[in-house]
Amino acid sequence: MNDKDYEKIDITIKSNTKDIFAFTKLVPDRIKRIEKASNEPLTEDPINDLAQKLHPIRQHLKIDQIIDNTKSTKTFRLISDFERGTEQLAYFRAGQYLSLKVEINDEWITRPYSISSSPKESLEGFYDITMKKEEDDGFLTPYIWENWKVGTKVISSGPEGFMYYEPLRDKKHILGLAGGSGITPFRSIAKAIAEGEIDAKLTLMYGCSDEDDIIFFDELKQLEKENLDKIKVVIVLSCEEVTLKGCETGFLTAELIDKYADVSNSSLFICGPQIMYEFVEKELERFNLPPKQIRREAFGEIKNISAFSGFPKDKIDKNFKITVHIGGMIKEVPAKSTESVLVALERAKLAPPSKCRSGECGFCRSLLLDGDAYISPISDWRRDADKKFNYIHTCSSYPISDLELIIPRKQHRDF
Ligand code: FES
Repeated sequence: MNDKDYEKIDITIKSNTKDIFAFTKLVPDRIKRIEKASNEPLTEDPINDLAQKLHPIRQHLKIDQIIDNTKSTKTFRLISDFERGTEQLAYFRAGQYLSLKVEINDEWITRPYSISSSPKESLEGFYDITMKKEEDDGFLTPYIWENWKVGTKVISSGPEGFMYYEPLRDKKHILGLAGGSGITPFRSIAKAIAEGEIDAKLTLMYGCSDEDDIIFFDELKQLEKENLDKIKVVIVLSCEEVTLKGCETGFLTAELIDKYADVSNSSLFICGPQIMYEFVEKELERFNLPPKQIRREAFGEIKNISAFSGFPKDKIDKNFKITVHIGGMIKEVPAKSTESVLVALERAKLAPPSKCRSGECGFCRSLLLDGDAYISPISDWRRDADKKFNYIHTCSSYPISDLELIIPRKQHRDF
């Protein structure tokens, strides 16, 4: 796909009355077109072709460059792997992520990583994924860190996630609250604003524990300098000794947020480690915003599930058995109460479906036939009907008894 394909998509909103009135002509116009149409079968299907290009199930990529950003952060530049069948990268909306799928010791692991490059750059042929190596970051990021080289082949999903600017829904001002490596989707959003792909303003408040941990500092400041009317970057450092000029110190408190943004007239996008969400969301309660005004990036699995007040304390560190119906097989797997059902299935090498690992995408949706699971309240994005009929998302569910569940066959369509 190239720029021209996108130019063909032209949607104009005229007015409520005109748009509703336009629908009255829909059926007669369609009948006329059917009457005029040829009887020959269609050889092309442009709509489905475009849908495939925008939403591929799987993309084959390879590493073209590895860029050191800070002592603990690297950017992996990914390009299409033509040999394995991916001719073009799927276009995306700034703020979305790719779920990467990696085989380690015969186990397939997935994890979402925000795209840090801009949508325009995907049309130029690359995605950037920026990773910070953190001590408690599971084992996929450290594995990638140690093993991925230029030329390594990578499997990813299509672009996913909901933390993107949508002009029909969002305010004209985005207030971005980033912590640590959570800056990555905001680099993409800032670039997209600078490149004219997003018609909105951005105030980016970026909390870091140390000056050395600020990722993309020069680049963000340059984007701010070149787009003074659109982009404002506020660095907030929580360390005691600060030499950097022009930054704030402390944390992303309500008071500090209020100093830089008209919160009620902003759409809030949040991305960072779990501890930052917990802190920031408490601070935001003071503004009493409707939930639709706040969007969060998929943050992966909850790390300290037993600390949630609703988690039954007598079940901490208990072991259970999960009987799972998957891909035509029935398997029994051991599980710990403090690890998600998804992790238990992965440990048993069953390659269960997953993408966001945050309860959001529904790719791991499964039917719970028997037993009790604790569902993390901050990542329970199930539909009401799913709750009623006992569907769970395995990535946000924790066994607190023996369980039996079915992973629907058609959903077990891997990427
Ligand atoms: S992997 Fe997305 S909801 Fe579980």
